[in-house]
Amino acid sequence: MIGPDLLGVTDRREKSWLIRWIVEPDKMLKEKDPIAIDLLKQFNQIPMPNLGVSETEAQNVLEHIASQSAHATKSPETNLLESAAVAASSSNPPVRGGFGGAQLAALIVFLILTAIIIFVFWLVARSTRQPVPVIDMKSAYKLRKQFFFGATVIVLGTLAATLPRTPYPDDFQTPDHLVYVTARQFNFLYSSEPITNDTDLGQVALINSLEIPVEALIEFRVTSLDVNHGFAIYGPDHSIVAQTQAMPGYTNRLRVRFLTPGTYNVLCLEYCGAAHHFMRTAFVVR
Ligand code: CUA
Repeated sequence: MIGPDLLGVTDRREKSWLIRWIVEPDKMLKEKDPIAIDLLKQFNQIPMPNLGVSETEAQNVLEHIASQSAHATKSPETNLLESAAVAASSSNPPVRGGFGGAQLAALIVFLILTAIIIFVFWLVARSTRQPVPVIDMKSAYKLRKQFFFGATVIVLGTLAATLPRTPYPDDFQTPDHLVYVTARQFNFLYSSEPITNDTDLGQVALINSLEIPVEALIEFRVTSLDVNHGFAIYGPDHSIVAQTQAMPGYTNRLRVRFLTPGTYNVLCLEYCGAAHHFMRTAFVVR
């Protein structure tokens, strides 16, 4: 949906062109390569990102596409559908959907707040049609004072009750492991060294399948190469564990201790472009 179908692409295009396109698409776009510009136009101006793939890896990718294309013996349409289904099922681990207790509670709170707002608007609208009442300023000030103290108690109480439960209590310890996270349209890259620009991409080794030891203190150093993204970690039970912003030109530190082993999903939580909803990755805690 965000790029051309790759079935039989090795027959359609020059091999040298394909390899260069996989290795340094950003450069080819800058050089205004005619095919690259044409593809950019066809696919909603979503540029093919530089994924930091080496030439050998690009070679392997093309061999894989060629062998898969050769196996495709059925009518092209069924194959398209099937490969789309396979791609969807393999790249997106199933996420448990449904409408549970937490969502219902949020809906009820939302409806109550909406009702209060409508009621207040109605009260105000009605009061404007009536003669201005005489206001007892003394009791009005007293009421204001009560409101102020009431609100202060609620805010401080909420802070005291929730702050110790945030996932950032280990800020004064040295983390056991550092993981560099680089976000870009539309994926996340893990590495053990920082990636701050496109030149680093080809040089810094990427971690393809990240594994994190259970109960260790992990510090994620999160940045972005293009626009703002969100780096949100969801646990094996699909509830959110921690999140921070991935911002261009800035590194956010996010410290987390994972107590439950399993597969954690990382989703982009900031609308970052047409393929924002595809921007996800995962890691394993053992
Ligand atoms: Cu990146 Cu949304």
